[in-house]
Amino acid sequence: MPDNIANQIAAGEVIQRPASAVKELLENAVDAGATEIKLIVTDAGKALIQVIDNGGGMSETDARMCFERHATSKIETIEDLFHIKTMGFRGEALASIAAVAQVELKTKKADDETGTYIEIENSVVKKQEPIAAPIGTSIAMKNLFFNVPARRNFLKSNAAEMRHIVDEFIRVALAFPEIFFSLTANNQQLMHLDAGSMKQRILQVLGNNYNAKLVAVKEDTDYMNISGFVGKPETAKKTRGDQYFFVNNRFIKSAYLNHAVMSAYQEMIAKDSFPMYCLFIDLDPAVVDVNVHPTKQEIKFEDEKIIYAFVQAAVKHALAQFSISPTLDFSLNADIQQLPAVQQPFTKEKESSAASTSLFKGFTQKHQAHFIEKNELKHWKDLYESPGSEVGSQKSGVRSQENLQRPMINDQFSTEEKPIGFKSLLAAHDSRLTSPGTALTQLHNQFIIAATPSGFILIDQQAAHERVIYERLMNASKDKPVSTQRSIFPVTIELTPADALLIDELKNELNLLGFMIEPFGKNTFVVQGTPADVPQGNEKHVIDYLLEQFKHFSSDIKFSKREKLIRSLAWQQSIKAGTSLTEKEMKGLVDDLFQCATPNSTPGGNPTYLEFKKEQLEKMFGK
Ligand SMILES: Nc1ncnc2c1ncn2[C@@H]1O[C@H](COP(=O)(O)OP(=O)(O)OP(=O)(O)O)[C@@H](O)[C@H]1O
Ligand SMILES: [Mg+2]
Repeated sequence: MPDNIANQIAAGEVIQRPASAVKELLENAVDAGATEIKLIVTDAGKALIQVIDNGGGMSETDARMCFERHATSKIETIEDLFHIKTMGFRGEALASIAAVAQVELKTKKADDETGTYIEIENSVVKKQEPIAAPIGTSIAMKNLFFNVPARRNFLKSNAAEMRHIVDEFIRVALAFPEIFFSLTANNQQLMHLDAGSMKQRILQVLGNNYNAKLVAVKEDTDYMNISGFVGKPETAKKTRGDQYFFVNNRFIKSAYLNHAVMSAYQEMIAKDSFPMYCLFIDLDPAVVDVNVHPTKQEIKFEDEKIIYAFVQAAVKHALAQFSISPTLDFSLNADIQQLPAVQQPFTKEKESSAASTSLFKGFTQKHQAHFIEKNELKHWKDLYESPGSEVGSQKSGVRSQENLQRPMINDQFSTEEKPIGFKSLLAAHDSRLTSPGTALTQLHNQFIIAATPSGFILIDQQAAHERVIYERLMNASKDKPVSTQRSIFPVTIELTPADALLIDELKNELNLLGFMIEPFGKNTFVVQGTPADVPQGNEKHVIDYLLEQFKHFSSDIKFSKREKLIRSLAWQQSIKAGTSLTEKEMKGLVDDLFQCATPNSTPGGNPTYLEFKKEQLEKMFGK
């Protein structure tokens, strides 16, 4: 096999998209000891990705060598491999980049008179010459995948690729607050992060909303240290967005450790919400294996359970210390060294006993939780059979149980959101009531019971309203946009760079749905108008929340952008559990629900109501 083809194949592992190249180049700059790192991209990295650093630079020989596969200056002996302190260690990144792009390298060491310029393309050096250059390194890669059209075609839209780039940039920037970072895209500076403290960096990157809402986590032991910040419970969001784990300064993804943090928040946040965290675990590199995955985002710990216990205890400790939850039910010895898990490493017996604890089971069976109730459900399912609908199917039956158990959504928004959409819904239904004489009763400010000729139905008010709004928006945007009310005082909103990109991407769809949003300089937008149902003065909140919800759905690739937006809006504007409804409001809602094309389920597939037949009820009473 020709070398360049082999290189292209190998490159595919490390460089999957522009963002992967960004990550590798930024990490190299960090490893080079830079105090200033600038990232410049054009066309979401498809045309250009350039990283300029003021680090140590390379000699002429090193510059030539660095594009060779397995050329790394970071590992000399096999022993080093077990004590990795640098971000890089494989010597693969630049070789991979050179295999799939046109690369220009400029570099100079402090002690050298001149610097070196190298042009390489398709793994072949095209040009090499001495040049005058500042100390440090600049690597520009142009036309990524120019020689692998299949991969190039596979890239997503600029907006989507740019989001990946911003994600990688943020991960590196968060890990190194002592380094200045900037990000310029299409000649516009998106981020400018002055060197500072960890807290300052978090606020710069994740937004000032977290100001005064961060709780410091810090515990040191002989085995490992943990530091960083977690968000106060009230900052928990509907998406996982702001959750970061770093092990020895390397961003990692770990469902296991995430669970440790989530469990520390137990009882403090709603079940389906996610707290912000940015946590740094430092431990002896000898007990972590970062060489599990080409992108190094998955790692293996020698003893995961110790880390789990440690993370959980440290976060609980921090939350308790700041007396966020005075009733918090645990007593943690301030000296975390006393933790049995830290003191006595796991033996096989301990491992099996730990595996039988409810905590461990709860984790491993997380995704099967609803099966536990299956038996009970059979009974539920038998109870109702909806006329020709899927509501009676096993699948949605299972969901319905979850639905019933859903905790009351008691967030700060529910009162504010009550009027959204609901008043207009009401207005339309002043006189168009459900069959006259039907008594409607609200239960727990969450469900509506309505008698039917053959029994009764139990309606989930939020689910029903979600369906109603969903269909209204779907129909409205098909031929004509939702009507907009122009704001008397246009509101400017400032977003995080990542959200600003997202708004840009969604602009057209948002317009269709009644939002008038125009860009107004760096990360700032002017809201000129909102859908007629959205109360004025609430724009920033509505948009923040909408983006939040959109991200919640965005892992679902099967939906179009518009579908995701409409689902988000429907969820957002729906009356929440915990909202008390008048008789008139209930009638309006029930009426509207049964005007829908698919009244029996939410857009997400949960049932909106359950039907109970008289005969079934009688049977249950042994008649
Ligand atoms: N910005 C830079 N400044 C100074 N030297 C650099 C820079 N980027 C790369 N190098 C040198 O080039 C070598 C190869 O870089 P490359 O990223 O391919 O491998 P690595 O960082 O050693 O390992 P990995 O493949 O895990 O990233 C590095 O070991 C380093 O010596
Ligand atoms: Mg590297």
